[in-house]
Parts: sequence; C-alpha cells; structure tokens
Amino acid sequence: GTVEKQGFRHFMLKEIYEQPSVVRSCLENYLDSSWSIDSIEARSPITLGAAAELCSDVDYIQIVACGTSWNASLVGKHLLEQLAGIPTMVQYASEFRYFPSPMLANTLTIGVTQSGETADTLAALEMEKQRRMGLEFPYNAKILGITNRPESTLTHMVDCIINTHAGVEIGVAATKSFVAQLMGFYFLALELAYRRKTLSLEKIEILIKGLRKLPNQIEIILEKQGEQIQELSHNFCDTQDFIFLGRGINFPIALEGALKLKEISYIHAEGYPAGEMKHGPIALLDAKVPVVAITMPGVAHEKVLSNAQEARARDAHLIGVTSIDNAESRTIFNDLLFVPEIDEILSPIISVIPLQLLAYHIAAKRGLDVDQPRNLAKSVTVE
Ligand code: G6P
Repeated sequence: GTVEKQGFRHFMLKEIYEQPSVVRSCLENYLDSSWSIDSIEARSPITLGAAAELCSDVDYIQIVACGTSWNASLVGKHLLEQLAGIPTMVQYASEFRYFPSPMLANTLTIGVTQSGETADTLAALEMEKQRRMGLEFPYNAKILGITNRPESTLTHMVDCIINTHAGVEIGVAATKSFVAQLMGFYFLALELAYRRKTLSLEKIEILIKGLRKLPNQIEIILEKQGEQIQELSHNFCDTQDFIFLGRGINFPIALEGALKLKEISYIHAEGYPAGEMKHGPIALLDAKVPVVAITMPGVAHEKVLSNAQEARARDAHLIGVTSIDNAESRTIFNDLLFVPEIDEILSPIISVIPLQLLAYHIAAKRGLDVDQPRNLAKSVTVE
C-alpha cells in the first residue's frame, strides 16, 4: 500500500518516530523468546538461521557498503571484533571494487545496503565473487547481505541475507534503516560470540536484556527530548560548520550525526574520533563552530570529556549527548541532550537518536526539503 506521513510534517520525522517499533520487530524476528540461560539444553538465544551457519567458523570478515550503511558497518566491525573476536575490515564499496585488498583465506564478505540496489555495493560483491570463482575452501566466496529489501538485486547475488525489517523508508536520509542495520550486527555478533564462546552466557544474557530495553529507551528520548531539540535547533540555523566527536563504538555515530546534518541541512559537518581532534580539526574551532560530543559512560567517557573541554577552551559551543546528569556535565556543556543509561556497547542505538532529531529540526527550521535533499537520491543505482 501507499505509505503516508500520518500527521508528521516529513517522512523523515515519521521514520525517526517509528524506531521503537522497528527495534521491537527486530527483537521479535531474531531473538528466541523462550531462551533462558538455565535452559538445560544449551542453544543459541539468536535465530539468524542460514546466516549463522554461513559465518560460524570464518577467520576474517570484510564488509563493503556506502553512505549510512558504511557508518553502520563501522559499528558492526566494532561488535564483531570486540564481542566475537573476528578481525573485520570495512571498505567503501566504490573503492573496493577497483582496489580490493588481497584475498584472505576463510573470509566472509558482507554487503550492507538498505535498498539492496546501490551500484557500487553490488559491483564490489560481484568482483569478490568473480575473483574467488572456482577456488576451493578456504578461498571460496561466502557472501552475506544485510538489507531492508529482501526482494532486491542484492538478495539474488548473495548466499543469504539478514533482513533488517525496518519497513519502507521514504526519506532520502536513512534513519530507521540505519538503526535496523545496527540491530542486525548485534544479532550477528552475539550469535558468533555464542558459537565461539568468546563471551560467557551470563554476559550474553546481560546484553540481550539490554537489547530488549531499547524500544522503551528510544521512546523516552523521543518523548522527553523531541521538543527540547527542536528549540535548541533554532540556535543553529545560520551555523556554517559543526564538529561531531565520539570514541570507540560511538565514533561511527559521530560520523553518522555529521552525515545526517550535511545531507539535509547543507551545513558542513565533520565527524571525528575525539582523540584525533588535536591533529587538525582543533584549528577550526571558535565560538562559531558548535561541537557535539558523544560522552556515554564507559571506557571512552573520561577521554571524550577531556577532549570536549579542549574544545570549550577554544570557545566552541559544546553540546553533550550523555546519560550522566551531574554538576560536572552541566559545567562542561552548554547544552545537554540526555539519554537513558545503557551499556556502552549498546549505546549507539541510543546516542544516534538525538543526532537524527538535531539534523532534522535544523533542516526543517531552515525550510529545506528534508525528504528530498538536493543532489541526493534514495538509492544510487549508477556508478
Ligand atoms: C544514497 C542515500 C544514502 C544511503 C546510500 C547507501 O547515497 O542517499 O542515504 O546511505 O545511498 O544506500 P544503501 O541503499 O546501499 O544503503
């Protein structure tokens, strides 16, 4: 049927608000609801089917993707390495198709594409298939797709897919499909961690409980922060440059926050790993350049806070995305976008939400065509 805006001013805003239900349907599709840690007969809590078999004993993973899917893949790399212990490379499909890295043995290739139609991503996968054609184990091609379109061209090219279940996305700037891709990577990494015993069952159970809380936590952000972010966004209508900082698993979220803002508001934005700021971007900072720092509690927390303070010392307007509401955060940051408390490794699904809202409201306030930004297409089917 036709997709309607259902009272929202733009499809993008509607799609941002659909994220709690998208995450819920990912959980329903990929978690075994009767699993418990006490099950006598140990079995995996994740139900990925053929996808799990395909990857169960690979030595390396290489991921090809473009745009927002590339950002999601960087989160995926972090999860596959940190949870499942599998060395993982992320490549831009447009680069990999002409300049592939040397063939490694026993390697799973993953193509991540929301539409399943992006020309560069399909060509990169085709190149990989061709160069491994006729080779035997361990050099044979094993290809997994992560897509929101199970009927797409991608699906026909790969051995199997993980369907991200986000529903049709109309806004050119990806939001709910990004969050659904992240969910796909959580399930894949947890399944592999379970099979390889790189995590204890207790740790897996804690992470699954955390995943189950996400839909409500996203709802809380949308309810509590929606209006505040809309008001805050008015201050940035004439801003020309933004910097987004994050570390570890939230570095790709800094990239995604910057990409969303560029795509729909046409404001120049850069995402940077916070520790690299001193090697370049710090030269840009003054009172006219707002800095958004993702400072979720965890290993990276103190480090990002001190990077944020360095920006503040250059008069930058500092916006923090954090779950910590205390005197310290209130002194360091000019504005705070609060999110619920969450395990650092799960935090990207939470920290990206205020950044989507910030980009949306700035672009909407500037009166721009949010759903159809200039020069961009929903899926780029030519090279
Ligand atoms: C286009 C869209 C982006 C998207 C990228 C990759 O550039 O404007 O929003 O992230 O393509 O699309 P895909 O369908 O492969 O995920």
